[in-house]
Amino acid sequence: MYKLLLTSILLLSLQPILAKESATTTATADASEPTGASLTQQHCTRCHGDEMYMRDDRQVKSLESLKQRAHGCNTMTDANLFEEDVAKIIDHLNTEFYHFER
Ligand code: HEC
Repeated sequence: MYKLLLTSILLLSLQPILAKESATTTATADASEPTGASLTQQHCTRCHGDEMYMRDDRQVKSLESLKQRAHGCNTMTDANLFEEDVAKIIDHLNTEFYHFER
């Protein structure tokens, strides 16, 4: 009996710690860093989708022009993305669609 009591006290006192832990985990997941894909989805699909990066006569033909285009389009979005976010987007577009040498 005494042992059972001890165990429940132990469990009870652990509970807030466990609860807190899972709360932090959820918070971290929510506030997790946006990825290049999610940033593109969120900010770059108002005027065009991915088909823009796959069209036959696409204009971007080098990593340099991809950077210029992404920055130019970023200005048009009014999203005022941070440099590192634009870099993530560029990375995403290059990995998925353009495949330029880095
Ligand atoms: C205000 C509308 C608008 C938004 C928002 C926009 N774009 Fe664009 N984007 C365009 C237009 C229009 C073109 C085509 C230009 C042309 O054909 O001359 C284009 C073309 C591009 C191209 C060139 C495709 C190719 O190879 O021919 C890239 C890359 C691009 N956009 C990236 C982005 C990224 C990244 C974002 C988000 C940061 C974004 N765009 C948001 C209007 C937009």
